[in-house]
Amino acid sequence: MKQISLFLAALMMFGLSASSQKQEKKTLVTYFSATGTTKAAAKQLKTVVGADLYEIKPAKPYTDADLDWRNKQSRSSLEMKDKSSRPTIAGKLKNMKDYDVVYVGFPIWWNTCPTIINTFMESYDFKGKTVIPFATSGSSSIKQSCEDLKKTYPQVNWKEGKLLNRVSKKELETWIKSVNTMSTIYDYTALSNKGEEVNFSDYRGKVLLIVNTASKCGFTPQYDGLEALYQKYKDQGLVIIGFPCDQFGHQEPGTNEEIEEFCRLNHGVTFPLMSKIEVNGKNAHPIYRWLESQAGFAGFTPEHPLSKLLDEMLSKADSAYASNPDIKWNFTKFLINRKGEVVGRFEPTAEPTALEKPIEEQLLP
Ligand SMILES: Cc1cc2nc3c(=O)[nH]c(=O)nc-3n(C[C@H](O)[C@H](O)[C@H](O)COP(=O)(O)O)c2cc1C
Repeated sequence: MKQISLFLAALMMFGLSASSQKQEKKTLVTYFSATGTTKAAAKQLKTVVGADLYEIKPAKPYTDADLDWRNKQSRSSLEMKDKSSRPTIAGKLKNMKDYDVVYVGFPIWWNTCPTIINTFMESYDFKGKTVIPFATSGSSSIKQSCEDLKKTYPQVNWKEGKLLNRVSKKELETWIKSVNTMSTIYDYTALSNKGEEVNFSDYRGKVLLIVNTASKCGFTPQYDGLEALYQKYKDQGLVIIGFPCDQFGHQEPGTNEEIEEFCRLNHGVTFPLMSKIEVNGKNAHPIYRWLESQAGFAGFTPEHPLSKLLDEMLSKADSAYASNPDIKWNFTKFLINRKGEVVGRFEPTAEPTALEKPIEEQLLP
């Protein structure tokens, strides 16, 4: 009863704001193009991906003479011979920090990428971003360019690149889909409850359960069940990770310190808690954008007493709520296998005990 009244209070606070919490992709298509071919490919890519577009413009544009590859003394020949050359870029993108995925396009010069791409890569911090090369060429493949970029910038999270010489829209879509499904949770970082950076690649080989939590929610007692799961399976490789979030009924108002203390004192929580984040909307944490892209709404458990209420509330805000992958409420759980892939999503109405079997399946050697 207490659970339901807490929940009803939350519904009133939540109101219609759920309708504005649509998932937003933060993707940028950047490109350098000397004669317009890569520019056209970048524009096509931007449209298919639904991204912003940014041209990497040389401070000093390349003339036809500069591009004469037959002339060993032309500007492009000299730049490509000198691995340390870094042609200056005009202007700087101010909001690079807003993007999680950055496509970088260029024409292939001398079987690799022009050195202005090195200038670009060294002008921004790509930590936490996924970077995807694309190129156009006379006939060369993109393979060498990708290898060179990976070798020069090994700390960047590179995805397989693609040559976009005369590709169809369908081919582009297939490639983008394969790039997206290639990502794993190991590509992401987040801040711990103490504000320290946690790299999810440190959890390689573990089975993970990622949960968005709140301290004043009808589902908060699930902390007990989650801790029980953790105690039961942690020696076999389960790690539960809580992401406190205040986006549902303002049920997580405290500081990271207060949240940690609450969980420890009231629910004996010993599994890791992260810093408070947003899981929906334009400020959604990249890890949640990725989680939601991997597993959409799983449906509420019909027999749970709060399922009907949740359904009514969410339908009021958005009659098609079930078809978008946004997080619906606190205590949505994502199960990640030992390879870093999402293998299950469980809505708040799935009690932790219901997760035992799926967790055990993933823990099997
Ligand atoms: C200096 C220079 C070197 C080039 N080297 C190659 C190459 O090694 N292999 C290739 O297939 N095409 C090469 N090309 C052709 C370009 O990659 C191709 O025309 C590209 O689509 C041009 O793109 P853009 O119009 O965006 O500048 C070269 C072009 C120039 C100007």
